[in-house]
Amino acid sequence: MSQGLITAAYIIAAILFIASLNGLSSQESARKGNLFGILGMIIAVIATIASSQVSGLGYITVAMAIGAGIGVRLALKVEMTSMPELIAILHSFVGLAAAFIGFNSYLDHGILLGAAKTIHDVEVFLGIFIGAVTFTGSIVAFGKLSGKVNSSALSLPGKNWINLAVVASTAFLLVGFVSGDMGITALIIMTVIALAFGWHLVASIGGADMPVVVSMLNSYSGWAAAATGFMLANDLLIITGALVGSSGAILSYIMCKAMNRSFVSVILGGFGNEAVTQTGDQDYGSHYETNAKEVADALNAAKNVVIVPGYGMAVAQAQYPVAEITKRLRAKGKNVRFGIHPVAGRLPGHMNVLLAEAKVPYDIVLEMDEINDDLKDTDVVLVIGANDTVNPAANEPGTPISGMPVLSVWEAEKVVVFKRSMGAGYAGVQNPLFFNDNSEMLLGDAKASVDAILQNM
Ligand code: TAP
Repeated sequence: MSQGLITAAYIIAAILFIASLNGLSSQESARKGNLFGILGMIIAVIATIASSQVSGLGYITVAMAIGAGIGVRLALKVEMTSMPELIAILHSFVGLAAAFIGFNSYLDHGILLGAAKTIHDVEVFLGIFIGAVTFTGSIVAFGKLSGKVNSSALSLPGKNWINLAVVASTAFLLVGFVSGDMGITALIIMTVIALAFGWHLVASIGGADMPVVVSMLNSYSGWAAAATGFMLANDLLIITGALVGSSGAILSYIMCKAMNRSFVSVILGGFGNEAVTQTGDQDYGSHYETNAKEVADALNAAKNVVIVPGYGMAVAQAQYPVAEITKRLRAKGKNVRFGIHPVAGRLPGHMNVLLAEAKVPYDIVLEMDEINDDLKDTDVVLVIGANDTVNPAANEPGTPISGMPVLSVWEAEKVVVFKRSMGAGYAGVQNPLFFNDNSEMLLGDAKASVDAILQNM
Protein backbone atom coordinates (compact mmCIF):
# COMPACT_ATOMS: atom_id res chain seq x y z
CA MET A 1 0.00 0.00 0.00
CA SER A 2 1.38 3.46 -0.92
CA GLN A 3 2.21 5.97 1.84
CA GLY A 4 -0.56 8.27 0.55
CA LEU A 5 -3.18 5.53 0.90
CA ILE A 6 -1.93 4.65 4.38
CA THR A 7 -2.13 8.30 5.47
CA ALA A 8 -5.68 8.53 4.07
CA ALA A 9 -6.65 5.32 5.89
CA TYR A 10 -5.19 6.67 9.14
CA ILE A 11 -7.14 9.92 8.82
CA ILE A 12 -10.38 7.97 8.22
CA ALA A 13 -9.62 5.71 11.21
CA ALA A 14 -8.90 8.72 13.43
CA ILE A 15 -12.20 10.36 12.40
CA LEU A 16 -14.03 7.08 13.12
CA PHE A 17 -12.43 6.90 16.60
CA ILE A 18 -13.58 10.44 17.38
CA ALA A 19 -17.09 9.60 16.06
CA SER A 20 -17.00 6.48 18.22
CA LEU A 21 -16.26 8.47 21.40
CA ASN A 22 -19.01 10.89 20.45
CA GLY A 23 -21.45 7.99 19.96
CA LEU A 24 -20.51 6.42 23.29
CA SER A 25 -21.48 9.61 25.11
CA SER A 26 -25.17 8.68 25.16
CA GLN A 27 -27.03 5.39 25.54
CA GLU A 28 -29.13 5.89 22.42
CA SER A 29 -26.09 6.26 20.16
CA ALA A 30 -23.71 3.88 22.02
CA ARG A 31 -24.24 0.97 19.60
CA LYS A 32 -23.41 3.18 16.64
CA GLY A 33 -20.37 4.47 18.55
CA ASN A 34 -19.15 0.92 19.05
CA LEU A 35 -19.55 0.15 15.34
CA PHE A 36 -17.54 3.24 14.39
CA GLY A 37 -14.79 2.12 16.79
CA ILE A 38 -14.68 -1.41 15.33
CA LEU A 39 -14.60 -0.09 11.77
CA GLY A 40 -11.84 2.41 12.64
CA MET A 41 -9.75 -0.33 14.25
CA ILE A 42 -10.16 -2.69 11.24
CA ILE A 43 -9.03 0.08 8.87
CA ALA A 44 -6.12 0.97 11.19
CA VAL A 45 -4.88 -2.62 11.48
CA ILE A 46 -5.13 -3.33 7.73
CA ALA A 47 -3.38 -0.06 6.80
CA THR A 48 -0.62 -0.70 9.34
CA ILE A 49 0.21 -4.25 8.29
CA ALA A 50 -0.03 -3.34 4.62
CA SER A 51 2.67 -0.68 5.05
CA SER A 52 6.03 -1.32 3.33
CA GLN A 53 7.81 -0.84 6.71
CA VAL A 54 6.13 -3.98 8.07
CA SER A 55 7.69 -7.35 7.40
CA GLY A 56 7.10 -10.84 8.80
CA LEU A 57 3.42 -10.86 7.86
CA GLY A 58 3.23 -14.59 8.62
CA TYR A 59 4.26 -14.09 12.28
CA ILE A 60 1.92 -11.10 12.62
CA THR A 61 -1.03 -13.07 11.25
CA VAL A 62 -0.40 -15.99 13.60
CA ALA A 63 0.02 -13.64 16.61
CA MET A 64 -3.14 -11.75 15.68
CA ALA A 65 -5.13 -14.96 15.24
CA ILE A 66 -4.03 -16.22 18.67
CA GLY A 67 -4.72 -12.81 20.29
CA ALA A 68 -8.11 -12.49 18.60
CA GLY A 69 -9.02 -16.05 19.63
CA ILE A 70 -8.21 -15.36 23.29
CA GLY A 71 -9.99 -11.97 23.11
CA VAL A 72 -13.19 -13.40 21.62
CA ARG A 73 -13.23 -16.24 24.16
CA LEU A 74 -12.74 -13.84 27.08
CA ALA A 75 -15.34 -11.39 25.80
CA LEU A 76 -17.94 -14.14 25.35
CA LYS A 77 -17.19 -15.65 28.75
CA VAL A 78 -16.85 -12.57 30.92
CA GLU A 79 -19.72 -11.64 33.22
CA MET A 80 -20.75 -7.99 33.14
CA THR A 81 -19.80 -7.78 36.84
CA SER A 82 -16.23 -8.90 36.04
CA MET A 83 -15.68 -6.30 33.28
CA PRO A 84 -13.53 -3.98 35.44
CA GLU A 85 -11.09 -6.83 36.16
CA LEU A 86 -10.90 -7.64 32.46
CA ILE A 87 -10.34 -3.98 31.60
CA ALA A 88 -7.61 -3.74 34.27
CA ILE A 89 -5.74 -6.79 32.98
CA LEU A 90 -6.02 -5.55 29.39
CA HIS A 91 -4.52 -2.22 30.47
CA SER A 92 -1.59 -4.15 31.91
CA PHE A 93 -0.93 -5.62 28.43
CA VAL A 94 -0.86 -2.12 26.91
CA GLY A 95 1.66 -1.07 29.58
CA LEU A 96 3.83 -4.12 29.02
CA ALA A 97 3.76 -3.65 25.24
CA ALA A 98 4.80 0.01 25.62
CA ALA A 99 7.74 -0.98 27.87
CA PHE A 100 8.90 -3.71 25.42
CA ILE A 101 8.59 -1.40 22.43
CA GLY A 102 10.61 1.20 24.36
CA PHE A 103 13.50 -1.21 24.86
CA ASN A 104 13.22 -2.38 21.27
CA SER A 105 13.25 1.17 20.01
CA TYR A 106 16.35 1.96 22.11
CA LEU A 107 18.27 -1.11 20.92
CA ASP A 108 17.29 -0.77 17.27
CA HIS A 109 16.69 2.84 16.23
CA GLY A 110 19.00 3.26 13.28
CA ILE A 111 21.20 6.34 13.04
CA LEU A 112 19.97 9.32 15.05
CA LEU A 113 22.00 12.44 15.79
CA GLY A 114 21.66 15.71 17.71
CA ALA A 115 18.16 16.92 18.63
CA ALA A 116 16.51 13.93 16.90
CA LYS A 117 18.43 11.56 19.17
CA THR A 118 17.59 13.57 22.31
CA ILE A 119 13.88 13.61 21.41
CA HIS A 120 13.94 9.89 20.67
CA ASP A 121 15.68 9.14 23.99
CA VAL A 122 13.09 11.14 25.93
CA GLU A 123 10.29 9.27 24.10
CA VAL A 124 11.88 5.92 24.91
CA PHE A 125 12.41 6.83 28.57
CA LEU A 126 8.89 8.17 29.10
CA GLY A 127 7.29 5.33 27.12
CA ILE A 128 9.00 2.69 29.27
CA PHE A 129 8.26 4.61 32.50
CA ILE A 130 4.52 5.07 31.79
CA GLY A 131 4.28 1.51 30.42
CA ALA A 132 5.91 -0.06 33.49
CA VAL A 133 3.78 1.99 35.93
CA THR A 134 0.65 1.02 33.98
CA PHE A 135 1.70 -2.65 33.93
CA THR A 136 2.10 -3.24 37.68
CA GLY A 137 -0.60 -0.71 38.63
CA SER A 138 -3.11 -2.57 36.45
CA ILE A 139 -2.12 -5.93 37.89
CA VAL A 140 -2.71 -4.65 41.44
CA ALA A 141 -6.04 -3.14 40.29
CA PHE A 142 -6.97 -6.52 38.77
CA GLY A 143 -6.11 -8.24 42.08
CA LYS A 144 -8.14 -5.77 44.14
CA LEU A 145 -11.17 -5.81 41.84
CA SER A 146 -11.28 -9.58 41.62
CA GLY A 147 -10.86 -9.96 45.39
CA LYS A 148 -7.51 -11.77 45.00
CA VAL A 149 -5.71 -8.95 46.85
CA ASN A 150 -6.90 -7.08 49.96
CA SER A 151 -8.76 -4.01 48.67
CA SER A 152 -7.92 -1.75 51.64
CA ALA A 153 -5.41 1.08 51.09
CA LEU A 154 -1.77 0.26 51.81
CA SER A 155 -0.22 2.99 53.92
CA LEU A 156 3.56 2.59 54.08
CA PRO A 157 5.24 4.93 56.57
CA GLY A 158 6.37 8.04 54.70
CA LYS A 159 4.57 6.99 51.51
CA ASN A 160 4.49 10.56 50.19
CA TRP A 161 8.28 10.76 50.60
CA ILE A 162 8.62 7.44 48.75
CA ASN A 163 6.64 8.92 45.85
CA LEU A 164 8.76 12.09 45.89
CA ALA A 165 11.96 10.00 45.93
CA VAL A 166 10.69 8.11 42.86
CA VAL A 167 10.05 11.36 40.98
CA ALA A 168 13.49 12.74 41.93
CA SER A 169 15.43 9.57 41.05
CA THR A 170 13.52 9.19 37.76
CA ALA A 171 14.40 12.77 36.80
CA PHE A 172 18.06 12.07 37.66
CA LEU A 173 18.05 8.88 35.56
CA LEU A 174 16.39 10.72 32.65
CA VAL A 175 19.23 13.27 32.61
CA GLY A 176 21.82 10.47 32.85
CA PHE A 177 20.16 8.55 30.02
CA VAL A 178 19.66 11.47 27.63
CA SER A 179 23.21 12.76 28.20
CA GLY A 180 24.49 9.32 27.18
CA ASP A 181 26.46 8.85 30.42
CA MET A 182 24.43 5.94 31.77
CA GLY A 183 23.06 4.20 28.67
CA ILE A 184 20.87 1.17 29.14
CA THR A 185 21.74 0.96 32.87
CA ALA A 186 19.58 4.07 33.45
CA LEU A 187 16.72 2.46 31.54
CA ILE A 188 16.93 -0.78 33.53
CA ILE A 189 17.09 0.95 36.95
CA MET A 190 14.22 3.29 35.96
CA THR A 191 12.12 0.29 34.82
CA VAL A 192 12.56 -1.45 38.18
CA ILE A 193 11.64 1.78 40.02
CA ALA A 194 8.61 2.34 37.73
CA LEU A 195 7.37 -1.22 38.27
CA ALA A 196 7.56 -0.75 42.06
CA PHE A 197 6.02 2.73 41.78
CA GLY A 198 3.00 1.43 39.79
CA TRP A 199 2.44 -1.26 42.39
CA HIS A 200 2.73 1.24 45.29
CA LEU A 201 0.53 3.84 43.58
CA VAL A 202 -2.47 1.54 43.18
CA ALA A 203 -1.89 -0.45 46.39
CA SER A 204 -2.15 2.87 48.29
CA ILE A 205 -5.67 3.50 47.01
CA GLY A 206 -8.59 2.04 48.96
CA GLY A 207 -11.30 -0.21 47.50
CA ALA A 208 -13.90 2.57 47.52
CA ASP A 209 -11.75 4.67 45.16
CA MET A 210 -11.11 1.83 42.70
CA PRO A 211 -13.55 3.22 40.07
CA VAL A 212 -11.31 6.26 39.74
CA VAL A 213 -8.21 4.06 39.60
CA VAL A 214 -9.65 1.97 36.75
CA SER A 215 -10.33 5.05 34.65
CA MET A 216 -6.97 6.55 35.65
CA LEU A 217 -5.16 3.39 34.46
CA ASN A 218 -7.22 3.62 31.30
CA SER A 219 -5.78 7.09 30.86
CA TYR A 220 -2.22 5.90 31.63
CA SER A 221 -2.55 3.11 29.07
CA GLY A 222 -3.60 5.72 26.49
CA TRP A 223 -0.52 7.85 27.22
CA ALA A 224 1.65 4.72 27.08
CA ALA A 225 0.22 3.99 23.61
CA ALA A 226 0.79 7.62 22.55
CA ALA A 227 4.42 7.40 23.72
CA THR A 228 4.76 4.21 21.66
CA GLY A 229 3.33 6.09 18.68
CA PHE A 230 6.07 8.71 19.03
CA MET A 231 8.76 6.00 19.22
CA LEU A 232 7.44 4.24 16.14
CA ALA A 233 6.65 7.51 14.33
CA ASN A 234 3.09 6.22 13.92
CA ASP A 235 0.64 9.16 13.77
CA LEU A 236 -2.48 7.07 14.27
CA LEU A 237 -1.10 5.50 17.45
CA ILE A 238 -0.32 8.99 18.76
CA ILE A 239 -3.87 10.18 17.99
CA THR A 240 -5.51 7.04 19.42
CA GLY A 241 -3.32 7.07 22.53
CA ALA A 242 -4.07 10.76 23.11
CA LEU A 243 -7.82 10.12 22.69
CA VAL A 244 -7.74 7.28 25.23
CA GLY A 245 -5.39 9.18 27.54
CA SER A 246 -7.42 12.38 27.60
CA SER A 247 -10.85 10.73 27.75
CA GLY A 248 -9.63 8.52 30.63
CA ALA A 249 -8.29 11.60 32.42
CA ILE A 250 -11.59 13.46 31.91
CA LEU A 251 -13.55 10.45 33.20
CA SER A 252 -11.26 10.19 36.24
CA TYR A 253 -11.82 13.86 36.94
CA ILE A 254 -15.61 13.53 36.62
CA MET A 255 -15.59 10.51 38.94
CA CYS A 256 -13.40 12.31 41.48
CA LYS A 257 -15.88 15.18 41.50
CA ALA A 258 -18.82 12.79 41.87
CA MET A 259 -17.10 11.02 44.76
CA ASN A 260 -15.77 14.21 46.33
CA ARG A 261 -12.17 13.05 46.00
CA SER A 262 -9.14 15.13 45.13
CA PHE A 263 -8.01 14.31 41.58
CA VAL A 264 -4.38 15.09 42.42
CA SER A 265 -4.53 12.89 45.53
CA VAL A 266 -5.88 9.93 43.54
CA ILE A 267 -3.32 10.17 40.72
CA LEU A 268 -0.57 10.44 43.33
CA GLY A 269 -1.65 7.23 45.05
CA GLY A 270 -3.77 8.65 47.88
CA PHE A 271 -1.44 11.59 48.57
CA GLY A 272 -2.74 13.51 51.61
CA ASN A 273 -5.67 11.15 52.31
CA GLU A 274 -7.10 11.13 55.82
CA ALA A 275 -6.42 8.02 57.87
CA VAL A 276 -9.22 5.48 58.24
CA THR A 277 -10.13 5.38 61.91
CA GLN A 278 -13.50 3.60 61.89
CA THR A 279 -13.99 -0.02 61.01
CA GLY A 280 -17.77 0.32 60.97
CA ASP A 281 -18.12 -2.71 63.21
CA GLN A 282 -20.08 -0.87 65.90
CA ASP A 283 -23.39 -2.21 67.17
CA TYR A 284 -26.27 -0.41 65.48
CA GLY A 285 -29.04 -2.38 67.24
CA SER A 286 -31.58 -4.70 65.63
CA HIS A 287 -33.10 -4.71 62.17
CA TYR A 288 -36.58 -5.58 60.87
CA GLU A 289 -36.97 -8.41 58.35
CA THR A 290 -39.89 -8.08 55.98
CA ASN A 291 -41.35 -10.41 53.33
CA ALA A 292 -42.47 -10.18 49.70
CA LYS A 293 -46.18 -9.81 50.60
CA GLU A 294 -45.54 -6.84 52.90
CA VAL A 295 -43.39 -5.13 50.29
CA ALA A 296 -46.03 -5.74 47.57
CA ASP A 297 -48.68 -4.18 49.86
CA ALA A 298 -46.46 -1.17 50.58
CA LEU A 299 -45.88 -0.67 46.84
CA ASN A 300 -49.60 -0.94 46.08
CA ALA A 301 -50.30 1.75 48.68
CA ALA A 302 -47.47 4.08 47.53
CA LYS A 303 -47.74 7.01 45.12
CA ASN A 304 -44.05 7.78 44.71
CA VAL A 305 -41.53 4.98 44.42
CA VAL A 306 -37.79 5.26 43.84
CA ILE A 307 -35.65 2.24 42.96
CA VAL A 308 -31.92 2.42 43.80
CA PRO A 309 -30.02 -0.42 42.13
CA GLY A 310 -26.48 -1.50 42.96
CA TYR A 311 -23.95 -4.23 42.35
CA GLY A 312 -26.25 -6.93 43.86
CA MET A 313 -28.86 -6.30 41.13
CA ALA A 314 -26.17 -7.06 38.56
CA VAL A 315 -25.04 -10.22 40.39
CA ALA A 316 -28.62 -11.48 40.70
CA GLN A 317 -29.51 -10.36 37.14
CA ALA A 318 -32.64 -8.89 38.72
CA GLN A 319 -33.01 -6.09 36.15
CA TYR A 320 -35.73 -7.95 34.18
CA PRO A 321 -38.18 -8.51 37.09
CA VAL A 322 -37.30 -4.99 38.30
CA ALA A 323 -38.34 -3.67 34.87
CA GLU A 324 -41.55 -5.73 35.12
CA ILE A 325 -42.42 -4.30 38.57
CA THR A 326 -41.77 -0.81 37.21
CA LYS A 327 -44.12 -1.47 34.29
CA ARG A 328 -46.90 -2.76 36.54
CA LEU A 329 -46.61 0.09 39.05
CA ARG A 330 -46.60 2.68 36.27
CA ALA A 331 -49.68 1.03 34.75
CA LYS A 332 -51.35 1.63 38.13
CA GLY A 333 -50.53 5.35 37.82
CA LYS A 334 -47.64 5.43 40.30
CA ASN A 335 -44.63 7.67 39.86
CA VAL A 336 -41.68 5.25 39.63
CA ARG A 337 -38.16 6.52 39.11
CA PHE A 338 -34.63 5.17 39.43
CA GLY A 339 -31.77 6.83 41.31
CA ILE A 340 -28.33 5.97 39.97
CA HIS A 341 -25.17 6.65 41.94
CA PRO A 342 -22.15 7.47 39.71
CA VAL A 343 -20.16 4.50 41.07
CA ALA A 344 -23.00 2.01 41.61
CA GLY A 345 -21.98 -1.48 40.48
CA ARG A 346 -18.47 -2.14 39.26
CA LEU A 347 -17.98 0.05 36.21
CA PRO A 348 -19.12 3.48 35.06
CA GLY A 349 -22.67 3.32 33.72
CA HIS A 350 -23.08 -0.30 34.91
CA MET A 351 -26.64 0.23 36.19
CA ASN A 352 -27.69 2.28 33.16
CA VAL A 353 -26.58 -0.52 30.83
CA LEU A 354 -28.48 -3.18 32.81
CA LEU A 355 -31.67 -1.10 32.97
CA ALA A 356 -31.45 -0.26 29.26
CA GLU A 357 -31.01 -3.99 28.55
CA ALA A 358 -34.27 -4.64 30.43
CA LYS A 359 -35.96 -1.82 28.46
CA VAL A 360 -36.57 0.54 31.39
CA PRO A 361 -37.40 3.93 29.79
CA TYR A 362 -34.38 6.31 29.90
CA ASP A 363 -36.43 9.27 31.11
CA ILE A 364 -37.22 7.69 34.50
CA VAL A 365 -33.57 6.77 35.15
CA LEU A 366 -32.10 9.75 37.02
CA GLU A 367 -28.63 10.64 38.29
CA MET A 368 -28.02 10.90 42.04
CA ASP A 369 -28.04 14.71 41.96
CA GLU A 370 -31.32 14.76 40.05
CA ILE A 371 -33.19 12.57 42.54
CA ASN A 372 -31.58 13.20 45.94
CA ASP A 373 -33.79 16.20 46.84
CA ASP A 374 -36.97 14.24 46.01
CA LEU A 375 -36.19 11.29 48.31
CA LYS A 376 -37.77 12.97 51.35
CA ASP A 377 -41.12 13.10 49.48
CA THR A 378 -40.93 9.44 48.43
CA ASP A 379 -43.24 6.81 49.96
CA VAL A 380 -41.13 3.71 49.28
CA VAL A 381 -37.49 3.35 48.22
CA LEU A 382 -36.40 -0.09 47.01
CA VAL A 383 -32.64 -0.47 47.47
CA ILE A 384 -31.85 -3.43 45.24
CA GLY A 385 -28.37 -4.81 45.89
CA ALA A 386 -26.88 -1.38 46.66
CA ASN A 387 -24.91 -0.79 49.82
CA ASP A 388 -21.96 1.67 49.86
CA THR A 389 -23.84 4.08 47.61
CA VAL A 390 -26.67 4.42 50.18
CA ASN A 391 -24.51 4.25 53.31
CA PRO A 392 -25.02 7.23 55.67
CA ALA A 393 -21.62 6.41 57.25
CA ALA A 394 -20.15 8.26 54.24
CA ASN A 395 -21.30 11.45 55.98
CA GLU A 396 -19.13 10.65 59.04
CA PRO A 397 -15.34 11.08 59.13
CA GLY A 398 -12.85 8.22 59.38
CA THR A 399 -14.33 5.54 57.06
CA PRO A 400 -12.99 4.54 53.62
CA ILE A 401 -16.10 6.09 52.03
CA SER A 402 -16.11 9.30 54.11
CA GLY A 403 -16.86 12.35 52.01
CA MET A 404 -18.39 10.35 49.13
CA PRO A 405 -21.85 11.75 48.33
CA VAL A 406 -24.52 9.05 48.73
CA LEU A 407 -28.21 8.69 47.90
CA SER A 408 -30.03 9.81 51.06
CA VAL A 409 -32.63 7.05 50.86
CA TRP A 410 -33.17 7.13 54.65
CA GLU A 411 -35.13 10.39 54.17
CA ALA A 412 -37.98 8.49 52.47
CA GLU A 413 -40.98 7.26 54.43
CA LYS A 414 -40.01 3.60 54.01
CA VAL A 415 -36.84 1.93 52.71
CA VAL A 416 -36.73 -1.73 51.70
CA VAL A 417 -33.22 -3.16 51.30
CA PHE A 418 -32.79 -6.25 49.10
CA LYS A 419 -29.67 -8.28 49.88
CA ARG A 420 -28.69 -11.76 51.00
CA SER A 421 -27.17 -11.02 54.42
CA MET A 422 -26.43 -8.17 56.81
CA GLY A 423 -22.87 -8.01 55.46
CA ALA A 424 -21.01 -4.85 54.39
CA GLY A 425 -20.64 -3.53 50.82
CA TYR A 426 -17.57 -3.28 48.60
CA ALA A 427 -15.71 -0.83 50.86
CA GLY A 428 -16.19 -3.08 53.90
CA VAL A 429 -18.10 -0.47 55.94
CA GLN A 430 -21.17 -1.65 57.87
CA ASN A 431 -24.32 0.22 56.85
CA PRO A 432 -26.32 1.87 59.69
CA LEU A 433 -29.21 2.37 57.23
CA PHE A 434 -30.25 -1.26 57.76
CA PHE A 435 -31.00 -0.59 61.43
CA ASN A 436 -33.13 2.57 61.03
CA ASP A 437 -36.77 2.50 62.20
CA ASN A 438 -38.04 3.16 58.67
CA SER A 439 -35.80 0.47 57.07
CA GLU A 440 -36.88 -3.08 56.32
CA MET A 441 -34.61 -5.88 55.11
CA LEU A 442 -35.81 -8.30 52.43
CA LEU A 443 -33.09 -10.92 52.69
CA GLY A 444 -32.37 -13.31 49.82
CA ASP A 445 -31.22 -13.25 46.21
CA ALA A 446 -32.52 -10.01 44.68
CA LYS A 447 -34.03 -11.71 41.61
CA ALA A 448 -35.91 -14.28 43.71
CA SER A 449 -37.16 -11.48 46.03
CA VAL A 450 -38.40 -9.28 43.16
CA ASP A 451 -40.05 -12.30 41.49
CA ALA A 452 -41.82 -13.09 44.78
CA ILE A 453 -43.09 -9.50 45.04
CA LEU A 454 -44.42 -9.71 41.48
CA GLN A 455 -46.41 -12.79 42.45
CA ASN A 456 -47.94 -10.90 45.37
CA MET A 457 -48.91 -7.77 43.43
P1 TAP B 1 -21.82 -2.61 46.98
O1 TAP B 1 -21.40 -1.67 48.04
O2 TAP B 1 -20.80 -3.34 46.20
O3 TAP B 1 -22.83 -3.66 47.65
C1 TAP B 1 -23.53 -4.58 46.88
C2 TAP B 1 -24.42 -5.37 47.79
O4 TAP B 1 -25.13 -6.29 46.95
C3 TAP B 1 -23.66 -6.19 48.80
O5 TAP B 1 -23.79 -5.61 50.09
C4 TAP B 1 -24.28 -7.59 48.71
O6 TAP B 1 -24.78 -7.98 50.00
C5 TAP B 1 -25.43 -7.41 47.72
N1 TAP B 1 -25.59 -8.56 46.84
C6 TAP B 1 -24.62 -9.25 46.21
N2 TAP B 1 -25.16 -10.25 45.49
C7 TAP B 1 -26.51 -10.17 45.68
C8 TAP B 1 -27.60 -10.94 45.21
N3 TAP B 1 -27.44 -11.98 44.38
N4 TAP B 1 -28.83 -10.56 45.61
C9 TAP B 1 -29.02 -9.53 46.44
N5 TAP B 1 -28.01 -8.78 46.92
C10 TAP B 1 -26.76 -9.10 46.54
O7 TAP B 1 -22.77 -1.92 45.90
P2 TAP B 1 -22.99 -0.46 45.39
O8 TAP B 1 -23.88 0.28 46.33
O9 TAP B 1 -23.42 -0.61 43.95
O10 TAP B 1 -21.58 0.27 45.45
C11 TAP B 1 -20.55 0.01 44.52
C12 TAP B 1 -19.22 -0.09 45.23
O11 TAP B 1 -18.27 -0.64 44.32
C13 TAP B 1 -18.69 1.26 45.69
O12 TAP B 1 -17.94 1.12 46.87
C14 TAP B 1 -17.76 1.65 44.53
O13 TAP B 1 -16.75 2.55 44.92
C15 TAP B 1 -17.18 0.28 44.18
N6 TAP B 1 -16.67 0.20 42.81
C16 TAP B 1 -17.38 0.79 41.81
C17 TAP B 1 -16.89 0.77 40.53
C18 TAP B 1 -17.64 1.52 39.48
S1 TAP B 1 -16.85 2.28 38.34
N7 TAP B 1 -18.95 1.61 39.52
C19 TAP B 1 -15.70 0.05 40.23
C20 TAP B 1 -15.03 -0.63 41.27
C21 TAP B 1 -15.54 -0.53 42.57
P3 TAP B 1 -24.94 -9.54 50.36
O14 TAP B 1 -23.63 -10.16 50.13
O15 TAP B 1 -25.39 -9.50 51.77
O16 TAP B 1 -26.01 -10.06 49.45
